[in-house]
Amino acid sequence: MVPLDYDKLPEHIAIIMDGNGRWAKQRGKKRIFGHQQGVKAVQKIVEEAARLKVPYLTLFAFSTENWNRPKEEIGTLMKLLVRSLREELEKMLKNNIRLTTIGATDRLPTQVQKELELVVEKTKNNSNMVLTLALSYGGREEIQRATREIAVLVKNNIISPEKIDESIINRHLYAQNLPDVDLLIRTSGEQRISNFMLWHLAYAELYFTSTCWPDFDEKELHAALLNYQNRERRFGKTSEQVNP
Ligand code: FPP
Repeated sequence: MVPLDYDKLPEHIAIIMDGNGRWAKQRGKKRIFGHQQGVKAVQKIVEEAARLKVPYLTLFAFSTENWNRPKEEIGTLMKLLVRSLREELEKMLKNNIRLTTIGATDRLPTQVQKELELVVEKTKNNSNMVLTLALSYGGREEIQRATREIAVLVKNNIISPEKIDESIINRHLYAQNLPDVDLLIRTSGEQRISNFMLWHLAYAELYFTSTCWPDFDEKELHAALLNYQNRERRFGKTSEQVNP
């Protein structure tokens, strides 16, 4: 296999971790078994991304639409989240990982919010990698919320409509402290964005794999990174301009 070019790693990788339920079903197990194995994949990928010194990793853990799932599945996902946060804190401290969140986290059960606040606080000075969990997150809701906030500023004459530019919009998004996504990975064969980071994905390279999330491992991550390194990112320019 061609080795990775460590100087050409993406600054920000975002992942839609899809296929836990199908993975479990294929094995005659309940969906929840897929989520449990999915947590193990999260642990592997977080550790590998930190080892590679990828500055930002964002994981789509729970969407606004996921609230429509059966109550029992939501409850188990929340329990898994609390347990993972408790178990992973030490490793995050050891690997110098900072945890942040994006999304309407105030909709999460109080216990999840408390656990998140604790880990966010304890890891706030870590600097090797920013791990962001998108929880109760929806891209359109993020833009709607930002628009409302900016409308209030205009209404109160704090800014004029002509002053609204990309940087002001960005400042009102959940993901205001994150750079644009360079590489979006989606597992399980679906080729959709599914309302994920609509603003930050504007120039992202998209990578789809048929592997379901519980089987996504270090090797799969390297394959995605190699694929990314062979793309030509032109940002609207010509090939000659980016490769003089
Ligand atoms: C998609 O699979 C996965 C989710 C909706 C949840 C992702 C959650 C985890 C991997 C575990 C908890 C997360 C952390 C960060 C510890 P799906 O259920 O949509 O699969 P399907 O499309 O096959 O039904």
